[in-house]
Amino acid sequence: MSSTTASLTGASPIGANPADAYHEDVVRAFVIATIFWGVAAFAAGVYIALQLAFPALNLGLEWTSFGRLRPLHTSAAIFAFGGNALLGSSFYVVQRTCRASLFGGAAPAWFVFFGYQFFIVLAALGYMLGITQSKEYAEPEWYVDLWLTLVWVVYLVIFVGTLIKREEPHIYVANWFYLAFIITVAMLHIVNNLAIPVSPFSTKSYSLFSGVQDALTQWWYGHNAVGFFLTAGFLGMMYYFIPKQAKRPVYSYRLSIVHFWSLIFLYIWAGPHHLHYTSLPDWASTLGMVFSVMLWMPSWGGMINGLMTLSGAWDKLRTDPGLRFSVTAVAFYGMATFEGPVMSIRQVNALSHYTDWTIGHVHSGALGWNAFITFGMLYYLVPALWKRERLYSIRLVSWHFWTATIGILLYITSMWVSGIMQGLMWRAYDQLGFLQYSFVETVQAMHPFYIIRALGGLCFLTGALIMVYNLWRTARGDVRDEAPYGGTRGASAPSTAAA
Ligand code: HEM
Ligand code: HEM
Repeated sequence: MSSTTASLTGASPIGANPADAYHEDVVRAFVIATIFWGVAAFAAGVYIALQLAFPALNLGLEWTSFGRLRPLHTSAAIFAFGGNALLGSSFYVVQRTCRASLFGGAAPAWFVFFGYQFFIVLAALGYMLGITQSKEYAEPEWYVDLWLTLVWVVYLVIFVGTLIKREEPHIYVANWFYLAFIITVAMLHIVNNLAIPVSPFSTKSYSLFSGVQDALTQWWYGHNAVGFFLTAGFLGMMYYFIPKQAKRPVYSYRLSIVHFWSLIFLYIWAGPHHLHYTSLPDWASTLGMVFSVMLWMPSWGGMINGLMTLSGAWDKLRTDPGLRFSVTAVAFYGMATFEGPVMSIRQVNALSHYTDWTIGHVHSGALGWNAFITFGMLYYLVPALWKRERLYSIRLVSWHFWTATIGILLYITSMWVSGIMQGLMWRAYDQLGFLQYSFVETVQAMHPFYIIRALGGLCFLTGALIMVYNLWRTARGDVRDEAPYGGTRGASAPSTAAA
């Protein structure tokens, strides 16, 4: 057995009693936090979606206005839900694939856990109170940024320290993706948040950058938050959990290495595609566009690698709905990374920018890719961490899968129609050269689609609540008495517990 395969099957335990050696308590805490913040983020998403359809839901209060709740939703989804999933899964994966316990023992890992939750609470309070530096995805003010930097450095030290003390000769590819995520996010966070506080006791600060430099730095950060937070880290998850769930090695290890280096090299240049037709020089905007189009190749290489890992095991999709989440996630990854390069072409962006098309693109990635791969991971990890034979109910996983999939389809199709219609209405002229539609008319035209989007969000949230129930019963050790799911009649329900 190659060292990679050995680490993937978890066949070579550390020490005499491996269950004691791995730090799993902290991973369990991250799993609970992921689920908690996931539900909070989806609920906030549904609420702001309803606000856009029915503005009365702003309640006439500044704290509950769309402007304040929107960043609450985006940060809760990306940093609280996605972040906890990434931190927790990286701690799990690095220990298993290195056959080593976390560097520094339990205390620093718990510091990262509680420190990160404190960061989320600090950030969320700031949004509600209107304390913000008004940079998308980097809204928290300087004192929150400093705290996160400290937590992140400890995280990096634990991760690298564990890699250094590994028992496996090889560093499995998932760890490369996680490491790129940790290092690059640190770099982006520090540079984009360089600011001077008005005074040590003031929550307000001023950025070191101004004008177009500020915009470029912000979108260098913003796009790479997508590239390294929402993509590289989650690819780490894909490279570990899909082979585990399919019980097969990665389709091509060589392709995964090419995937890694090309993705890392290309992503970092693509940020200017957010700033087409602005005061940014044309060459910079063209650079962003060209690198974005090139990104298509490694993205699809990675997608193919993930999907082909199932070759010879496709039948598992019928019987293991947890794996179905992971595989559908990879398909959505492919879709979002096809759409993104198209939208980065200047002429297409002239239509899509500022419209709901962007929102549709974001959520095909966020819901289809990030959330689905996380659900797949949770369905694998909860029985594994709570040492249960199988999930409480395989049928409920299937219910979750279909409600969430219908939710995503309602969400993204309504946003495509609404976005393209919105863009076309904005640029329609009459024979005399006047704008054909007033702004209010475009808003009216979008109203039905906002209701459909909110319904889609509600389906997605309902699916997540079904998952919470199923996982809670699983953790308690309950098993639902149900007819075998999928497969041949009479076969027993598949075990989703870790090998
Ligand atoms: C129930 C699920 C969800 C619903 C109903 C929902 C709804 C919304 C709404 C209404 C907006 C504001 C759109 C606008 O300003 O026009 C938004 C923005 C956003 N959401 Fe969600 N969301 C959901 C889940 C997620 C998840 C899971 C993520 C990330 C992992 C996410 C990431 C974002 C981001 C990044 C934006 C800002 C997009 C931009 O500025 O272009 N959302 N969401
Ligand atoms: C090859 C990959 C991708 C490329 C080239 C790409 C490109 C783009 C482009 C051109 C935009 C619109 C920019 C604008 O008009 O302002 C955009 C927006 C966005 N994309 Fe992607 N995308 C890719 C993959 C993804 C994935 C996988 C996600 C995961 C969730 C994602 C999340 C986002 C978000 C959150 C925004 C909104 C940013 C904002 O607030 O304005 N993208 N992307």
